[in-house]
Amino acid sequence: MVEGKRKVILDVDTGTDDATAIILAALAPKIELLGITTVWGNLPLSVTTEQTLMITELMKKDIPVYVGCPGPIARGLYPQAHKEHRRVAVDAKGKEYGYHDLFQLPRPSAQAQRRHGVDYIVETCRTSREKITLVAAGPLTNIGMALRIAPDIVKNIREVVVMGGGITQSNSTLCAEGNIFRDPEAAEILLKSGAPATFITLDATHRAALPVEYVDRCRGLGNPVGDFFAEILRQRIRVYNALQPLWRGDIAPIHDALCVAYLLDPAVIPDMRRVHLNVCLDHGNGAGAFLIDTRYYHLKENANVAYDGSWERFGEVVMDTLEKAEGLFWKGEEK
Ligand code: BDR
Ligand code: CA
Repeated sequence: MVEGKRKVILDVDTGTDDATAIILAALAPKIELLGITTVWGNLPLSVTTEQTLMITELMKKDIPVYVGCPGPIARGLYPQAHKEHRRVAVDAKGKEYGYHDLFQLPRPSAQAQRRHGVDYIVETCRTSREKITLVAAGPLTNIGMALRIAPDIVKNIREVVVMGGGITQSNSTLCAEGNIFRDPEAAEILLKSGAPATFITLDATHRAALPVEYVDRCRGLGNPVGDFFAEILRQRIRVYNALQPLWRGDIAPIHDALCVAYLLDPAVIPDMRRVHLNVCLDHGNGAGAFLIDTRYYHLKENANVAYDGSWERFGEVVMDTLEKAEGLFWKGEEK
């Protein structure tokens, strides 16, 4: 382990914005990325794992990848999740695109580690001399399982930073964000565990959505990671413009990267509140919704919740990190 850096395990369902989170976490000098665990989510586990390996390989970094859970802790998979698909973007006409069509990334030659992702989280938290930060960029299944199997790890967790939930914003259902909707019981396990938990909500990620100028700024870096980042942002802006217009045009959130940016500069979240949070565990319309206790006699605070995000700060963190990537990035193949 490297002294003075924040020790991070990143849990992902890669995914385009997960890819940007991996890139920032792997490159940021303030972070020591110990390992990556994969989880089911937007895409089936086999695909999230393969795409995670594509990113670590693209970066030519030896970051161990551990395969985690293929479905939620306590409920059945919802019907779309059964389909073995590779879609990461859809155009206005409904045509679907996978990683290969979008980014021409080769299939990875590296394999995931043999050890299970949940086991890796438990062992790393138990044995680390310094507290571990978990960044959860997918459903909380792996982290919920780890906390259930080994509640003692809480004492060695510095923070769990979750991309999930929403106060006024939702995406998967009328009232729920996808990562929390997919495994609400796992989110409740985290909230009841006593681990310091921070939720980077859709309210924050939508406000911190990056404008189209960043496509050119990332390309202008003249390195392959900048080009890849630019292409992800370009594709996401296309999809958001067509299918999910936000508070202004030609912007796109890269949700998961904002969690990593928060570790590097908390000012990316200008309004973070300490609240008592629960997640709705019903099986109807409310499943996965955030329940924030705003009563004056509210229950004891158990989470930090991001109410706003700053795209200006976020953009600067992204550019600073990607700029530092030059040379670091292409081990043995300096551009
Ligand atoms: C979240 O869903 C995921 O698949 C995205 O990568 C992000 O983590 C947004 O709701
Ligand atoms: Ca994700």
